[in-house]
Parts: sequence; C-alpha cells; structure tokens
Amino acid sequence: MTVPLHTPGEMIVRVDLAERSYDIVIGRDLLSSLGPRVAALRAGAAAAIVTDATVAGHYLAAAEDSLAQAGVRAVRVVVPPGEATKSWSALERVCDALLAANIERRDLVIALGGGVVGDLAGFAAAITRRGLDVVQVPTTLLAQVDSSVGGKTGINSAFGKNLVGAFHQPVAVVADTALLDTLAPREFRAGYAEVVKYGLINDAGFFAWLESNAGDIFAGGPARDHAIAVSCRAKAAIVARDERETGERQLLNLGHTFGHAFEAAAGFSDRLLHGEAVGLGIALAFGFSQRLGLVAAAEVERVTAHLGTVGLPVRPSEVRGRPPSIDELMALIGQDKKVKRGKLTFILARGIGKSFVASDIDANEVRAFLTESLD
Ligand SMILES: NC(=O)c1ccc[n+]([C@@H]2O[C@H](COP(=O)([O-])OP(=O)(O)OC[C@H]3O[C@@H](n4cnc5c(N)ncnc54)[C@H](O)[C@@H]3O)[C@@H](O)[C@H]2O)c1
Ligand SMILES: [Zn+2]
Repeated sequence: MTVPLHTPGEMIVRVDLAERSYDIVIGRDLLSSLGPRVAALRAGAAAAIVTDATVAGHYLAAAEDSLAQAGVRAVRVVVPPGEATKSWSALERVCDALLAANIERRDLVIALGGGVVGDLAGFAAAITRRGLDVVQVPTTLLAQVDSSVGGKTGINSAFGKNLVGAFHQPVAVVADTALLDTLAPREFRAGYAEVVKYGLINDAGFFAWLESNAGDIFAGGPARDHAIAVSCRAKAAIVARDERETGERQLLNLGHTFGHAFEAAAGFSDRLLHGEAVGLGIALAFGFSQRLGLVAAAEVERVTAHLGTVGLPVRPSEVRGRPPSIDELMALIGQDKKVKRGKLTFILARGIGKSFVASDIDANEVRAFLTESLD
C-alpha cells in the first residue's frame, strides 16, 4: 500500500444506525486513498464507479488509479451530467451496466459525483441484485453536507421530483474537500444554503461562526472542512434519531417547502438551483415565522443578511425569468406537502437555531404572506 489510509487533518463523523452504521471521512486529498479504503472495507471486492461526464473529466482517472494500485478491479459507468439523469432510462442503463460487469452482492458501487449521481447510483445499488453496497464519494458541497449522508436515494418521475426511490444507507462516505476546488462558484454557493440550514435548525453557535467564517469557507481555507464536518455531524445526529423521517428528520426540510415551489415554478432549471431555492425558502420561512409572531425581526434580518452576503437569493424578485403567480405557488405547495383539511406542514422558527415542525398552518395565511412577498 503506497498511500496511507489516514491522511493528516482528516475528520471522521460516525452515522449511528446499529447494523447500518458507517463513517463519513472528511478532509483534503482523500481521493488518492480511495483504493486502500475500499480494499480495507471489503477485501477482494470489485467496484463499479458510477459518475457523470463532467466529474469523470476531473477525477475518474485519479479514482481508478487509486483502486488499481490497491488491487481493486474497477469498471466505470458514466452518465450525462444534470438533473435529467435522475430518470427511469438512466436507472435502467446503470443497473444493466452493473449486471453486464458482473458486479455481485459482495462487490461495491462507488457513487463519484454530486447529488444527482449519488441519488441515481444509490438507488441502482439498492435494487440491483436486491441490494448492492454503495460507497458515496460526494464531489459537490451539497452532496458532501447533505445528499451523500442519510440514505435517501431515488430518481424523478413525471409526477414530480424524488418520487421513486429507496432508503439505502451507504457503507462509507469519503468526502474529499479538495474536489470542491473545481466546482463552479454558483454550485458552491447553492450548497452553502444547506450548511446555513444546519445552524438555523438547532445550532445558533454554528450560525454565528458561519457569519464570521464564510469568507474562509468560500476561499477553501480550513474553515471549509470544519463547516462540512459540523454539517455532517448535524445531519448524522438527526438521521440516527429518525432514519425514516417520521418526526425530527422533517426539520431538514427547513426552507424546502417554499423553496421547492419556486424551484418547480422555474422548471428545475438553471434559473434556480436547488440550493438557491433553499436559500430563498429559508428567508421566506423566517419571514413567515415573523408574520406569525414567532420570531423577532432582528433575527430574521440576521438570517437574510447572511444569505444575501454570500449571494444567495432572499426575495422572489431575485429569481431569473417570469415570476410565478400566487395560484401556481399555492398549487405547488399543496402538492409538495401533505394537506390535511386545509392545514399545511411547514418548518418554522422561533429564532436562529430554534426551528420546529408546524403541522397546522392555515393555507390562507401562507397565501397572504406570499402575496405580500411577491410584490
Ligand atoms: N438524497 C438526499 O438526501 C438529497 C438531499 C439533497 C439533494 N438531493 C439531490 O441532489 C441533487 C442535486 O445535487 P448537486 O447540487 O450536487 O447537483 P449535481 O449532482 O447535478 O452537480 C452539479 C453540477 O456540478 C458538476 N460537478 C460535480 N462535482 C464537481 C466538481 N467537483 N467539479 C466540477 N464540477 C462538478 C456536475 O457535473 C453537475 O453539472 C438533486 O437531484 C437533489 O434532489 C438529494
Ligand atoms: Zn436540499
């Protein structure tokens, strides 16, 4: 083994789920240690690397070299980049490629990419041969702090996003933070909205730290790795307590009900990236909480100021293109969330770090709030 298994400065976050527990390893330049890690995880196993064409151009050779040096037989499955790849047809292609390459139950699928690859490869792994183990190697900030952790996998359907899928926890997550150096600044900023989310859910100290350290996080300094590790720890703790989202895990949807409505109205296009929609959605969730008399104006201003400082949208007017109508937004919100007798579920806040699940929100209140926000 030429590459050490432990690199200096790496951090480990454990996701505690009894027999489905696993480690998230976080640090710079971990990709070169992928081979030894895989070999240590499962001696003699082969690997199928699923990635998208853009990520392949940057990192596939390095991943393959590392596996080859550790004596791991590896095949590659390259899909087109973009949300459209979370489809039935791409799923079929990935499953067939795994079978054609004789990937067996004892082998491993390696999802090398952003949330699109992680969701697609994770789901293909969940259903091929009734379940193959997957190692997530997230390459976007969003994937490193959110989608690679927690086991949600899936594809989109004509009926909506993420409607076909499975819970399938990875056996390991390897988050090489140096890979983010090639990520487009806009994609990085979008992922940062999910980082802010963790502070706002239940960690006011982390939010305050982000306010002081965002510059270093965006510049790729040591604060970046710390922010990713804290985010993973926050998600791991919530997932460990509520793996299947029957209660507390819903808090991770802070900003997502409003956000999804704007994301869908923009056609899930590059007019509004998922993380940008989450930034806007968080600002709206705090604004709505203020309207309901739950949170002080000063707290709401701190939240919108921080999101705005890093360049995330905080007002509907900042979304490019034709603004959605109020009826369109209300229909999308109704679709997104279970509506029980005209009552909607929202994640609201009593303050920074004090988010809670509110399941009795009157749709008329939401309509009135959004009507004001759209002006
Ligand atoms: N499973 C979950 O819990 C969960 C949580 C949140 C989001 N998601 C899903 O994640 C998806 C969004 O993920 P995303 O934001 O990572 O998008 P993505 O996977 O589409 O990646 C964004 C773009 O960046 C490129 N890219 C990726 N890594 C790169 C790198 N290191 N350098 C240069 N370019 C790189 C990709 O090719 C792509 O074009 C959505 O489909 C969403 O539904 C899932
Ligand atoms: Zn999200």
